[in-house]
Amino acid sequence: MFTSFYSLSARPFVKEIKSEKMFPSSSHQELLARLSYLKDNKGIGMVVGEAGAGKTSSLRAFAASLNPALYRAVYFPLSTVTVTDFYRGLAYNLGLLPAFRKVDLFRQIQEAIQDLYSGKKVTPLIVLDELQLASTQFLSDLHLLFNFSMDSENPFILVLCGLPALSMKLSLTHNQPLNQRLMMRYQMDGLSKEETKGYLEHHMRLAGANYPIFSDSAIEAISLVSRGWPRLINNLATTSLIFGYQKGLKTIDEDAVRQAAVELGM
Ligand SMILES: Nc1ncnc2c1ncn2[C@@H]1O[C@H](COP(=O)(O)OP(=O)(O)OP(=O)(O)O)[C@@H](O)[C@H]1O
Ligand SMILES: [Mg+2]
Repeated sequence: MFTSFYSLSARPFVKEIKSEKMFPSSSHQELLARLSYLKDNKGIGMVVGEAGAGKTSSLRAFAASLNPALYRAVYFPLSTVTVTDFYRGLAYNLGLLPAFRKVDLFRQIQEAIQDLYSGKKVTPLIVLDELQLASTQFLSDLHLLFNFSMDSENPFILVLCGLPALSMKLSLTHNQPLNQRLMMRYQMDGLSKEETKGYLEHHMRLAGANYPIFSDSAIEAISLVSRGWPRLINNLATTSLIFGYQKGLKTIDEDAVRQAAVELGM
């Protein structure tokens, strides 16, 4: 294994990283700040970014930072959950037995959210991920479901998350009712060259590296090829380490990264 060759105590760049171990990139921190604003003001926010930008992990870190006595976080990724699963899942999470008809289900959910907020002083945080997959019908239903216009303040936090196509979808005329209600919108950027260096070093340090395994030119190549998207950085770095191990390279150079990029079809 490359881990023992590079004297690492763990595999760096694994898919799931603990929230508290995330690299504090500027877009990660900015997103946390925007979410904190949304937390204080309530209502609907939108987070978009390219694939592998770090949206889901940053949202997970935000949810983990909330006091469970004051917030109840639920997460639904539309890639694996159907719209019906979402309504029913939300109802179950609010302690309801879901009604059969959609109108009844919506009323039930709204009453439960209101009761949770006003009665129990708990704010639900609902995250809908991979929402670029949503139909127009679903987006307009969301507008209805989360319409508490009789109240002076919103009794919930709803985060809509997805690829940049989501933002374009919401800007279409028929989605204006929902679009105009967004209290916060944020588009995640890729990591800068300096941040990519910091990101690589951060992960290598977490894995117990005791010398700089990636050369400066290797880091530059990773930054260029990945355009700073964390998932691509992870894939490139891991494949470079495997390649370096096979070739007996103690330091990963630019050439190893180029080979890895070819292998990954990047
Ligand atoms: N700030 C960070 N620190 C450490 N690892 C990160 C950071 N941001 C992203 N990652 C890692 O990059 C990978 C991709 O992140 P994530 O799944 O959150 O992206 P995404 O924007 O949700 O992508 P997709 O649109 O494909 O769902 C994950 O393995 C994650 O652990
Ligand atoms: Mg994601």
